[in-house]
Amino acid sequence: MQNFQDVQRAAAALREAIQASHGASSLPLGARRLDNNASPEADAPIGIVLGTGLSCMVERLQDRLVVPYADLPGFPASSVEGHAGAFVWGRFPGACDEDDCVGRYALIQQGRCHLYEGRTPAEVCMGVRVMALLGVKTLVITNAAGGLNPQFDAGGIMCMSDIINHTGHSPLTGVNVDDWGPRFPDMCAPLDADLRALALETAAKMGLRLERGVYIGVHGPEMETPAETRMYRQWGADAVGMSTVLEIIAARHMGMRVLGLSCLTNKNLPDCMTPAPLEEILAMAAVTGKNLGRLIRAMVTKL
Ligand code: HPA
Repeated sequence: MQNFQDVQRAAAALREAIQASHGASSLPLGARRLDNNASPEADAPIGIVLGTGLSCMVERLQDRLVVPYADLPGFPASSVEGHAGAFVWGRFPGACDEDDCVGRYALIQQGRCHLYEGRTPAEVCMGVRVMALLGVKTLVITNAAGGLNPQFDAGGIMCMSDIINHTGHSPLTGVNVDDWGPRFPDMCAPLDADLRALALETAAKMGLRLERGVYIGVHGPEMETPAETRMYRQWGADAVGMSTVLEIIAARHMGMRVLGLSCLTNKNLPDCMTPAPLEEILAMAAVTGKNLGRLIRAMVTKL
């Protein structure tokens, strides 16, 4: 089921909160245009979804406004530790030294809800839909994930080249909302090749190792068995997690360009499985998240 009216209401409340705090009408919060593949506009806000334990970056925003999900009618909060529940609106500092240099606006979703919490696919994707209605055209989506590729180290970052949706759900089930996107959206390139190239180039310049690979999204909340881990690897997945894939589908449905970045919080190898408790995942996400924040900040003016 798609939730057109719930999304409209939440988007209207967020838009009002942001505009009230600025007291200005010239904010780049344009209503979403329907030309889905319009080229990105320099003044459109960047959307960022921060996953488990990744609340990095928001303190760097200027003119910051925090809007708790609880203030948005019908917006689902996360019940999981490590997921703050708020949109954060603000401006990354400009890249130039001039006083009047205006940085890039960003709308950050700090924490998300998941299918395993009993949320519906429509609820899981509500943040992405709201961002699209507020004019976001470029979305950076992050998560914590287990590394399936034996060459990846815990503590590393992987730039998603593709996804496997193994959740058993789609956010597009039910009558299609034609205002949002087509009935059968193309998935030839769920992640944007130019954004990925920019991420790899920026990371290389920073001396930061950035892996590339396929992310498989599973339902959870149980962690993978050795046999599942072996199978996911044989399917071609390099990292596994319990989020992100439905949001990427919803974002593509609405014509957004997507960059996906996973913080590899643990290794997930079938022949030497070790438990990865939430506390360890959070601790590793806090460390890796610092590099992730540096990478995103370094790219922000070019997104
Ligand atoms: N499996 C699933 N989800 C995860 C993992 C994992 O190993 N690590 C972080 N999120």
